[in-house]
Amino acid sequence: MAISKKISIQSIIVILLLRLISLHVTSAQNSARDVINAHNIERTAVGVPPAQWNDTVAAFAMDYATKYRAKDCAMEHSTLPFGENIAAGGPDFSIVDAVKGFAAEKKFYDKGTKGCKGGECGHYANMIAHDSTQIGCARVKCKGQGGDGIFVGCSYWGPGWICPIVQPGDPRAYTQAGTNY
Ligand SMILES: *[C@@H]1O[C@H](CO)[C@@H](O)[C@H](O)[C@H]1NC(C)=O
Repeated sequence: MAISKKISIQSIIVILLLRLISLHVTSAQNSARDVINAHNIERTAVGVPPAQWNDTVAAFAMDYATKYRAKDCAMEHSTLPFGENIAAGGPDFSIVDAVKGFAAEKKFYDKGTKGCKGGECGHYANMIAHDSTQIGCARVKCKGQGGDGIFVGCSYWGPGWICPIVQPGDPRAYTQAGTNY
């Protein structure tokens, strides 16, 4: 009795520890720091300036994700005047998972032409764009046709991009690019 109680307390502690560890890993994979690190590994490798997390850019990404994609998980882009990478996955899909998927297109990126060769590389190209040093990503639960999932959107901005004059949350931010900025 005492032993079984002890064992069960130990196993509860182990389960709690495992829960804490998995919670920690999950949240770390979505933290600004880890998302930026995942980008900067790729940026440093090709010699472009490191990027920073930008809360305003992230707020635009979050607005778009919650207002437009939480209801359908669709792979549809916003009309924001930012570079934008989107991805969707199952309930455990993290932002870093998405970023790793974007980075996997590296093999199709041709340095000489800065274009793609043999496959899609536009997501990777956004990640390593020289001037896109301000990055913000959003992760939301979404309702897909095949069930609930996660939608991730990353926006890429820098001095070379035209900045919206509207604030995150303003519906004018999502109308046709070029008419409101
Ligand atoms: C962050 O992004 C916003 C919106 O694009 C921009 O106006 C601002 O200058 C950026 N912050 C920095 C430090 O570049």
